[in-house]
Amino acid sequence: MRLPHPRGPLSAAVIDVLRGGDPAALPQSFDAPDDALIDDDLQLALWTMYELHYRGFEGVSDRWEWEPRLIQLRNQLEAVLLTALRAMVVVPADARRVADRLRGLVEADDGPSLSRYMQTRADRSQWLEFVAHRSIYQLKEADPHTWAVPRLPVKAKAALLEIQLDEYGGGNPALMHSELFRGVLAELGLRTEHGGYIDVVPGITLAITNVMSMFGLNRALRGALVGHLAAYEMTSSEPCRRYAKGLRRIGGSDAACVFYDVHVTADALHEQLAAHDLCGGLAEAEPELTEDIVFGAAVCLAVDARFAAHVLDSWAAGASSLRTADDSLLAVS
Ligand SMILES: [Fe+2]
Ligand SMILES: [Fe+2]
Repeated sequence: MRLPHPRGPLSAAVIDVLRGGDPAALPQSFDAPDDALIDDDLQLALWTMYELHYRGFEGVSDRWEWEPRLIQLRNQLEAVLLTALRAMVVVPADARRVADRLRGLVEADDGPSLSRYMQTRADRSQWLEFVAHRSIYQLKEADPHTWAVPRLPVKAKAALLEIQLDEYGGGNPALMHSELFRGVLAELGLRTEHGGYIDVVPGITLAITNVMSMFGLNRALRGALVGHLAAYEMTSSEPCRRYAKGLRRIGGSDAACVFYDVHVTADALHEQLAAHDLCGGLAEAEPELTEDIVFGAAVCLAVDARFAAHVLDSWAAGASSLRTADDSLLAVS
C-alpha cells in the first residue's frame, strides 16, 4: 500500500523517515493530546509504524520495522494510548469466572447500535462510508490477534487456532474473511486494496486497529489481546445478522452479503470458544492475567461504542463520518 498523507508533526516525522529521512530527526518528546483515542496525528503515526509489522508500504524498506528510534517513538505513543484506555475503562473487581465476567460486560454494554441503524435506515452513501471505515481493519481481519498464538499456553492456544482457522477460511483463500470483505467493497464499487481509505478515515477508526496491534505486538498485553478478541466475537453474531439485512435492503447481492452471513453462525461458535477456552484457558494457566483479559474486553466495547457514536452523531448532524465530505474519494480511481 501507499504511505498515507501526514496529519500533524508526529505522523509527518514518521512518514518522512519511511521516505528516506533521518531517524535522528524523529521527535524525542511531544505533548500528549487531550484525547489520544481520537487524535488524528497520534493515531496515524501509530498506524503507520504498526503497518511495518504487517504488509509494509510500497517503496519502503522492510528494514525499518526494527529501527530503534521508530520503536522508541512507538513505545512513547503506546504509553499515551494505554494511559488513555486505562482512564476510560474501569473494571471493577469481581470473583466470578472470567467467562461470566465477559458475558456480564457484554450484557451491560449500552453503546449506540450502529448495526440497527445500518439494518433499517442507512442509505447507500452511508453504507459506502461505513464499509470504507471498516475496510481499515477488515482487510486484515484476524491478523492482529494472530500475534498471540506463540504466547499462549496449550488450551488457550488450541482455542485461538480453532477461531483463527475459520477467520483465514480454513485454508481456502476465497473463504478468508478478509477476502469475503473485499467482495463487499467490490460490489459497492469501492477500492479493494488494503489501506485504500487510509486518508479519509478519522482517528477513531484507526484506533480500532491500533488497539489490537498494540495488544498483539506487546507480549505483556497478551491477556488484553485475548479479552479483546472475546468481546469482539461476543458482539458479532447478532449485529452481523442486522448488517446482512441492511445490505440486502439497499440491493446487496447474496454473494456480497456472505461476509456478514458467515459471521452470524461462525461467531456464535467463536464467542463460546473465545470466552471459555481461550480466555478461560489463559486465566486458568496464568491467573495473574485475569484483570487484563477483562480490561481488553472492556476496551473493545468502549472503542467500538466511541466509533459508533462518531458515525451516528455525524450522520444525525447531516455530515459525513469521514474526514472529507467529498464523495468522489469513495469512488474507485
Ligand atoms: Fe471473521
Ligand atoms: Fe469470528
